[in-house]
Amino acid sequence: MARRVSCSIVSVLILAFFFVGCLSFLTAEEVPLRFKNASRLCNAKPIVTINGMFPGPTIYVREGDQLQINVTNYAQYNMSIHWHGLKQFRNGWADGPAYITQCPIQTGHNYVYDINVKGQRGTLWWHAHILWLRATVYGEWWNKDIETSVNQANKLGLPPPMSDAHTINGKPGPLFPCSEKHTYAQEVLPGKTYLLRIVNAALNDDLFFAIAGHNMTVVEIDAVYTKPFTTQVLQIAPGQTTNVLVQMDRTPGRYFMAARPFMDAPVPVDNKTATEILQYKGIPDIIIPILPQLPAPNDTSFALNYNQKLRSLNTRQFPANVPTKIDRNLFVTIGLGVNSCPSCQNGTQFTASLNNITFVMPRIGLLQAHYFNTKGVFETDFPDKPIKAFDYTNAPLTANLATQNGNDNDTEQNANARMQGIAK
Ligand SMILES: *[C@@H]1O[C@H](CO)[C@@H](O)[C@H](O)[C@H]1NC(C)=O
Ligand SMILES: *[C@@H]1O[C@H](CO)[C@@H](O)[C@H](O)[C@H]1NC(C)=O
Ligand SMILES: *[C@@H]1O[C@H](CO)[C@@H](O)[C@H](O)[C@H]1NC(C)=O
Ligand SMILES: *[C@@H]1O[C@H](CO)[C@@H](O)[C@H](O)[C@H]1NC(C)=O
Ligand SMILES: *[C@@H]1O[C@H](CO)[C@@H](O)[C@H](O)[C@H]1NC(C)=O
Ligand SMILES: *[C@@H]1O[C@H](CO)[C@@H](O)[C@H](O)[C@H]1NC(C)=O
Ligand SMILES: *[C@@H]1O[C@H](CO)[C@@H](O)[C@H](O)[C@H]1NC(C)=O
Ligand SMILES: *[C@@H]1O[C@H](CO)[C@@H](O)[C@H](O)[C@H]1NC(C)=O
Ligand SMILES: *[C@@H]1O[C@H](CO)[C@@H](O)[C@H](O)[C@H]1NC(C)=O
Repeated sequence: MARRVSCSIVSVLILAFFFVGCLSFLTAEEVPLRFKNASRLCNAKPIVTINGMFPGPTIYVREGDQLQINVTNYAQYNMSIHWHGLKQFRNGWADGPAYITQCPIQTGHNYVYDINVKGQRGTLWWHAHILWLRATVYGEWWNKDIETSVNQANKLGLPPPMSDAHTINGKPGPLFPCSEKHTYAQEVLPGKTYLLRIVNAALNDDLFFAIAGHNMTVVEIDAVYTKPFTTQVLQIAPGQTTNVLVQMDRTPGRYFMAARPFMDAPVPVDNKTATEILQYKGIPDIIIPILPQLPAPNDTSFALNYNQKLRSLNTRQFPANVPTKIDRNLFVTIGLGVNSCPSCQNGTQFTASLNNITFVMPRIGLLQAHYFNTKGVFETDFPDKPIKAFDYTNAPLTANLATQNGNDNDTEQNANARMQGIAK
């Protein structure tokens, strides 16, 4: 039943590619990654494409399918593909994050992902997974080459540059320059109900999304059915997916669908509004669409209230099997620290951490190191709770914001020595 519903819909989304629950037509497919020029906001630049497409193609699968996807890398960067949200039960080699479950696929080489689809239904997506090349296949648009910009920023200890636009189905919409050709319009039939598959393919931004004049009924998130609830605006985290039902029961016309970030910390974000058009059949293109009302970028109470509404469907057919026996309790704080960096512009560098430990990119895949029992790649003593207790949400900026590096040899002296540029 659910399967039939998901197949009879039109997809409109902020880039969805992986629909679990529809007809399967893709197995043992060859997927070439190549650079092609793409142009947005009056700027052309080379960008990674898949099968020559930007954004990439949609893969339809049925629950229970096994897929083999042969990815060949013709781009100048080494990279891998992550099948975002697929559970990959006992199947870690196919998950894809570079240096975590595999080494990246080198230029000119290929890797066959062998994927099983079990116990999931709905919308998931896939993307390149190495550093900021995650940004290449879709989602957000930078006029400059983002890898180069991030590398330059890291060297100077500056935050990475903000994107120039978010996109919907690869297009920023008519509120941006040179966007006549880069506006996505979805034609709909009045009186019908549509299922929209929405994916937040932005790198780091939480997004609000709304459709002028139309409410949305949320039915599924990250390939898990939810208790349906109706909302005028939805909030979606980076990497998250949300399926909504929308009734086309308004005065036939043209309505904007719009997305803009939520950010309530003092961190600069690209707060411009990406749009696409919901267009009732037969309505001429000259009608100017109406914009929906989005919450203010810093609307914390909207965000808290929205997230309170999320509940799994939890029926007999689709139970929420939450384990209730706890073997071990973990308390993990996620933080943004500041480490010393003598070569940086201000002598410091922003550094993310979990329980004050910063991830250090290994040289071989962590799963590979685990499988072959290779020592010196990762530690197994990640702390169950923060090493030092403090006011986690309100640490004064005068506190010691340094973090500890997480690779095996990283005693504090090693880390300090490396920061001072002493070769070890
Ligand atoms: C992209 O465009 C530039 C000029 O704008 C051109 O030099 C280059 O060859 C093009 N690259 C590809 C892959 O088409
Ligand atoms: C994957 O594609 C490459 C060419 O890009 C080919 O050489 C290789 O045999 C293919 N592998 C499989 C398992 O089909
Ligand atoms: C790709 O990986 C190979 C092997 O690790 C390395 O020699 C090469 O420099 C890498 N290429 C790029 C562009 O980083
Ligand atoms: C670097 O220092 C300058 C001047 O003190 C300041 O304006 C800027 O915000 C600092 N940048 C960072 C990333 O701390
Ligand atoms: C959408 O929901 C709001 C709040 O529940 C309600 O006031 C409004 O009438 C609904 N709009 C439509 C078009 O159903
Ligand atoms: C968006 O950010 C700019 C600064 O980058 C700021 O001037 C503007 O007020 C912000 N807009 C909203 C709606 O917050
Ligand atoms: C949200 O931003 C607006 C304008 O940018 C500002 O006036 C307001 O104080 C902010 N609200 C909070 C709770 O920070
Ligand atoms: C850790 O230190 C040992 C001994 O100094 C060295 O052999 C090994 O390569 C180092 N491992 C890493 C990951 O740096
Ligand atoms: C985090 O680690 C750094 C480096 O070891 C240390 O200086 C700092 O005090 C630690 N902070 C907390 C909150 O544990």
